[in-house]
Amino acid sequence: MLFQLTEEQLMIQQAARDFAQQELLPGVIERDEHQKFPAEQIKRLGELGFLGMMVSPQYGGSGLDTVSYVLAMEEISKVDASASVVMSVNNSLVCWGLETFASEEQKQKYLVPLAKGEIIGGFCLSEPEAGSDATSQRTTAIDMGDHYLLNGTKNWITNGGTASVFLVMAQTDVAKGHKGINCLIVEKGMEGFTVGPKENKLGIRGSDTHSLMFQDVKVPKANRIGEDGFGFKFAMKTLTGGRIGIAAQALGIASGAYELALKYSKQRKAFGTEICNHQAIQFKLADMATEIEAARLLCLKAAWEKDNKMDYNQSSSMAKLFASEVAMKTTVEAVQVHGGYGFVKEFHVERLMRDAKITQIYEGTSEVQRIVIARSILQ
Ligand code: CAA
Repeated sequence: MLFQLTEEQLMIQQAARDFAQQELLPGVIERDEHQKFPAEQIKRLGELGFLGMMVSPQYGGSGLDTVSYVLAMEEISKVDASASVVMSVNNSLVCWGLETFASEEQKQKYLVPLAKGEIIGGFCLSEPEAGSDATSQRTTAIDMGDHYLLNGTKNWITNGGTASVFLVMAQTDVAKGHKGINCLIVEKGMEGFTVGPKENKLGIRGSDTHSLMFQDVKVPKANRIGEDGFGFKFAMKTLTGGRIGIAAQALGIASGAYELALKYSKQRKAFGTEICNHQAIQFKLADMATEIEAARLLCLKAAWEKDNKMDYNQSSSMAKLFASEVAMKTTVEAVQVHGGYGFVKEFHVERLMRDAKITQIYEGTSEVQRIVIARSILQ
């Protein structure tokens, strides 16, 4: 077993680190405070190839592996989780879903501009009354011959206000349960499609989360992904990869907070010495470093399994479950190491603590990850 990154992977990691430090760090506090979407920075991420990292160059992507994606997600998330969620949704949920399951025509029309970062995408599964229980959704896509008539509401949609293209799951045949669900590619300009107000969130405040409303939206049949009734499986398969991205985001939030706590502990003096010389702080740093390393290994293992065409259903849920709990725990401890300074915005750790919470909720709560893992163990 070789625990060593390739030259190319190290280069991607460094490029993401440089970008985060030089282009995301300035202004990150203000964007969080004013809920400002990092539009310029996302445009730059697209130009640098970070929005279609795993897409083949044939479709405008960077043709990189999932390990590189995890490395980049960690570096970006250390600094700005609001930017990294845009990156995660576009890469894992939208681009991967399209490249793996869409028709050639759909790929040319939608995947190419998404992978190049010319436009960004959204993924619409959750509803007001269907979050974890994804089969219970109420949005309908009635088959009208050459098109579907789409009606319903989707909730908590990342990139809701800024995306141009959405992958929308909807029930075509309620009697068939999850086998009656389709995934439709919906464009923002389609008649009857409206975007609700922006959510005022605890964390990832720079990201753009909205409800979306569909009223008699005519979606051409050509915009359905896969066979009739493939929508639920499409969503599950896509989310399985998405969970690696969110696990890497959680890892980045944790390692960002840890690095700040470590640095601060070497500067701050109390009781006549730098606080890193006190065992109370050393034990916290040791626990943080150990748990982050374990989370990183789980993320990389899931990514490696995906790259090697193995079954990564269990490992992606394990990585997300563990990394998100490490993110929550580490950020709380990082605030504690900073004392009163940790409670004010200038020191960044309070933001990372608020950002960490969502990683235990979106793309499947920690409870959903436990369901997936338990089913995998018991099958
Ligand atoms: N890969 C492929 N197929 C899968 C699958 C997977 N990972 N998981 C389930 N399936 C298939 C099953 O095999 C089954 O197919 P068959 O009937 O042909 O055997 C079918 O899908 C139904 O599966 P289940 O009976 O297991 O479904 P369930 O209703 O019990 O639900 C669940 C299982 C894991 C709880 C699922 O509903 C789930 O993952 N819920 C969470 C949804 C979620 O993650 N939402 C996040 C929204 S997106 C988001 O947050 C994006 C964002 O903006 C950041």
